[in-house]
Amino acid sequence: MEWTPFHVLSFIVFVVSLLLVVRRKGSESRRRRPPGPPGWPVFGNLFNIGQQPHRKLATLREKYGPIIWLRLGSIDTMVLNSAKVATEFFKNHDLEFAERTVTDLMRSHGYADGSVALAPYGPYWRVMRRLVTVDMLVTKRLVESAPIRRKCVDDMITWIGEAAKELRDDGEGICLARYVFFMTFNLLGNLMMSKDMFDPKSEVGSEFFKAMTGLMEWSGHPNVAELFPWLRKLDPQGLKRRMDRDMGKAMEIASGLVRERMKEREMGVKKRDFLDVLMEFRGNGRDEPDIIPEKELNIFILEIFLAGSETTSSTMEWALTELLLNPHSMAKVKDELDHVIGPGRKVEESDIDNLLYLQAVLKETFRLHPPIPFLVPRRAMKDTTFMGYDVPENTQVFVNAWAIGRDPDVWDDPLAFRPERFIGSKVDYKGQHFEFIPFGAGRRMCAGVPLAHRVIHLTLSSLIHEFDWEFDRRIDSKNIDLRDRLGITMRKYEPLLAVPKKRRL
Ligand code: HEM
Repeated sequence: MEWTPFHVLSFIVFVVSLLLVVRRKGSESRRRRPPGPPGWPVFGNLFNIGQQPHRKLATLREKYGPIIWLRLGSIDTMVLNSAKVATEFFKNHDLEFAERTVTDLMRSHGYADGSVALAPYGPYWRVMRRLVTVDMLVTKRLVESAPIRRKCVDDMITWIGEAAKELRDDGEGICLARYVFFMTFNLLGNLMMSKDMFDPKSEVGSEFFKAMTGLMEWSGHPNVAELFPWLRKLDPQGLKRRMDRDMGKAMEIASGLVRERMKEREMGVKKRDFLDVLMEFRGNGRDEPDIIPEKELNIFILEIFLAGSETTSSTMEWALTELLLNPHSMAKVKDELDHVIGPGRKVEESDIDNLLYLQAVLKETFRLHPPIPFLVPRRAMKDTTFMGYDVPENTQVFVNAWAIGRDPDVWDDPLAFRPERFIGSKVDYKGQHFEFIPFGAGRRMCAGVPLAHRVIHLTLSSLIHEFDWEFDRRIDSKNIDLRDRLGITMRKYEPLLAVPKKRRL
């Protein structure tokens, strides 16, 4: 065909019109993104999220509404800031967002490939999750393992009692979270592998503890290289290097423990702990593995420590802080314990159902201080529409459980610590009440709730039944620092220092 001037002109008009349509479509689809603060070139909204992103993003609700769009470096991010949008998300869009965002740090030594919390939504995740919820944390097994938890809490009470004796009598306190952290570490070690993991006398125990605390530290740091993939090789903060070191050490130790157990089993020794449950798993070999391979067993062990230890210790730290700030609530907890347990007896897990005020205190603590304020971030499995907005595949989603627990549309006087609001209320954290989601909700909700429920109630009630507590004298309770800092969990910025005094019961 000959190209006449007419053809050339028509072609130019066609291309220009096409470009205009595409541009209009592009800007239309951009307009159909949720609103959000304008970002900077390259950095996007990195400077909009501040040091305490859960708080900062909650404040943006006033200007942009409950669904906010951000670009964090190269990552599209949608933030859900109200109970109403969380309800829509979990009720009608849970499946479309059932994947996780996996960070580069968590890929260290192949961790993410065997992790339940980070697994793609598929057969491996389904099998592992079933193992945790159905085989490991089934009520019968939990009831049988109650003496282990009681013993670990007893050990903690002894450590605190000894520390209290060594305190100078001038009102200096102990760092509560450390004791609870050690206790949970041992507790999880005992439930999984019948071993104390924090044992200064055991070299392996101490090395494992050191590697795991390092791993929690690095994975909780904001990593610039995550947001700008071109920085990954440079690792400017040295986080990947440190993560590789500690992950490698933790995996090596976990692998030694698993091998030791394999040998014991060959000799016919059965421990009936969680590791045995995993080793006894036999899949159908079609859409599930025949057995859980050794590497996945190692990763599973690390995962349970990661999931259960900081979350529990941070919850105890906030609960005791709130009770010390609210003496009226503390008095009610003590009254209840004196009434239900009484002198000369320890709290048992079977008492939890009768400790209604204590339950309310823990709920109120979770409402104001959810340990994982954005839950474990979800990711869109495909292009999708959410409440009228177009959300592209791979968008990361922060469900701001912190903001939702303080949502003034559903909570009266939301900033006040008032456990009474839960007395006589059916609202709980089992994933059915989307205004209160410290353990998340939907398919990817926390798999450890039945265990966590027992541990937090047993620990807090024992701490208060055994000791009277006061703030360290250096803390001014009228101006106490209630800031938090976000690592792998949300901890108190200034660790709680409190003075324990043995109760004379
Ligand atoms: C106070 C204690 C705990 C809190 C507050 C907590 C909270 C959470 C949250 C918020 C999530 C993400 C849920 C979501 O994305 O919707 C999660 C996931 C998870 N938690 Fe917990 N957790 C606690 C203790 C535990 C314990 C003791 C275990 C282990 C037995 C555990 C195992 C898991 C697992 C395996 C997941 C991943 C679930 C999945 O992706 O399917 N958690 N947890």
